[in-house]
Formats: sequence, structure tokens, C-alpha cells
Amino acid sequence: MRQIALLVVLILVSSVLVYFGLVSLDLFPAEASAQAETIDWLFNLELIAISFLFSLIIVPLVYSLVVFRRKPGEEGEGEHIEGNTKLEIIWTVIPLIIVLGLAYLGAWSLGDALRVDPESMVVEVTAFQWGWKFYYPEFGVTTSELYLPVDQQVLLEMESRDVIHSFWVPEFRLKQDIVPGQTTELRVTPIELGDYTLRCAELCGTSHSYMNTPVIVVSGVDFLGWVDEQIALIPDDPGPNADRGEIIANQNGCFACHSVDGSVIVGPTWLGLFGSDVELSDGSVVIADEEFIKESILEPNATIVAGYPPNAMPQYIFSDEEIADIIEFIKTIQ
Ligand code: CUA
Repeated sequence: MRQIALLVVLILVSSVLVYFGLVSLDLFPAEASAQAETIDWLFNLELIAISFLFSLIIVPLVYSLVVFRRKPGEEGEGEHIEGNTKLEIIWTVIPLIIVLGLAYLGAWSLGDALRVDPESMVVEVTAFQWGWKFYYPEFGVTTSELYLPVDQQVLLEMESRDVIHSFWVPEFRLKQDIVPGQTTELRVTPIELGDYTLRCAELCGTSHSYMNTPVIVVSGVDFLGWVDEQIALIPDDPGPNADRGEIIANQNGCFACHSVDGSVIVGPTWLGLFGSDVELSDGSVVIADEEFIKESILEPNATIVAGYPPNAMPQYIFSDEEIADIIEFIKTIQ
């Protein structure tokens, strides 16, 4: 009896030490969404259960190794024990209750994380190799960074232009795959002002690891100010416009593969591209004029620049005006 009492005390002390040891590792970044609060609450409960179960197994094991080890002169065999029905029922029923309880809490926290706020703001998210585009239908604004007002639920309606990507902001805790051919929804309520990073969490090709973009959570007033800035940014003159071309190129992720400073990322740099001689993979040389650049955007595999692999660039759909804007921008990078 004294040994059991001692074991119970050791198990409890070990549980507490293991739990606080795990907590001190600081496993999670900031808790920046309402959904994160529920998820972290459940995770903490599981940490407690894990610490206790770990101690329940390891402490009696170590205790037996030390206290019941063979004494000098002890030659005989230990006592033979043939099962114990009462014990077996106990160690089946108690874990069953715990697992059912965790399943209930898991379903409850999932329901809480998916709770619908009818006032939520819609943002249409487009994922593509290798970047993100955000469209705010309420304001007619398109950006490559995700700006969100604090304390308001946002409904992300997500689509992929090519392969499977995954929306993941560690501080929001939620993660959602984006599958081509369908719209996937995710609801987030940011509760903490700050700068975070959206990362693609599904291996999606050469530049998967660079498929990041800033997520900026600002106050409601700052958000509306930012929207006005975005609307004012877009030049509305009709002809080809280099500034607008840069915005379009940025929104469509062109800079994930094409630098403007001469460095080689995935594709050829745009620095000094316009009007230059370009050697193709078949050995011929062409001049990078309007016609060549337009073809390279709309049909990337029609010609391949020497030294670059084919099929690396996805096909883009742009209007003639948008392509003229992009070319106008490329002309300015000399
Ligand atoms: Cu997109 Cu990984």
C-alpha cells in the first residue's frame, strides 16, 4: 500500500514536470485569431493528457527497474500471474471514456473554428505557381498582400489556377488546401494587430518554398485608409502604362520567377530584356520585342530561352491592354 501511494505521488509530480517542460518549449507563435484560442485550448488539454499518460507508463517502469531488481543471491523465478479481469476492464474502460471525451471536444472546437458570422468580409484568394492574389469584391481592389481589419471575420473564398496549394498562417493556426476546379472556404477572425506571413503548405513545384506573402492585420480605420490608397494607386489613363504594368506583374506573381535586378531566380531576368538579343534553346537568336514578349506570356512553351527548362512557366490569361501595360513596364527596366 505504501508503495502504491509513493507511485501515485511520483506519477503526479512527473506529470506536472513533463507538462511544464513541454509548455516552456514555447511550441506555438503568437495567438492571432479567435479560432486559434479554441484550438490552443484543446491542444493544451491534450498536452496535459500526454504528460499524465507518459508519466503513468514511464514512472512505474523505472520504479520497478530500480525497486524490484534482482537482489544478490536471488536465483528463483518470479511469481507467475495469469491475467486479471478486473484490471483489464479498468484499463479498457477508462481510456475509452478519455478518447470519447477528446473526440467530443475535438468536434466542438472544430465547430467553433468554423462558426459563421453573417457580417464577414469576403476576400477572393487565388493561389498559383508561385504566388497569391487577393481580390476584395466590396472595394474592387486587387493586391498581392493580404490586409485584414482586426476583430472582423473574413471569409476567404479560395481558388487555385494550377495545382494544389495550401493556405497557412501559423499565427491563425488554421490550414486549408486549395484544390483546382473548386472554391474552398476558410473563415478567420484576426484578434491581434501585427505582421504575419502566409505560407503555402503543400509542395507545389520548384518555388514552393518561396510561395510566401505578408499578412498585415490593422485596425478597421487603417484598413479603410489602405483600401483608399489601393484604389488611388491604379492609374486610369487608357494607353499602356508602366506603373499599372508593374502592379499587374506583382499581383500575378511574375516576380517570383523573374527578377528586375539581373539576378536569375527561376526564369530569365527582366533587366535589360526589352530590345536585347535572346538565344533560344534551338540555337536561334531573336530580338525581345513586343511580339516575342507577348508570345512568351500567352504561350510560354512556344519558344524556350537557352539554359532554361521547358514547362517551367504556367500559361497566363491577360487582355491585350494588360499585356501592353506589362511590356511598357519591362521597357523601363534597363
Ligand atoms: Cu503553392 Cu506550395
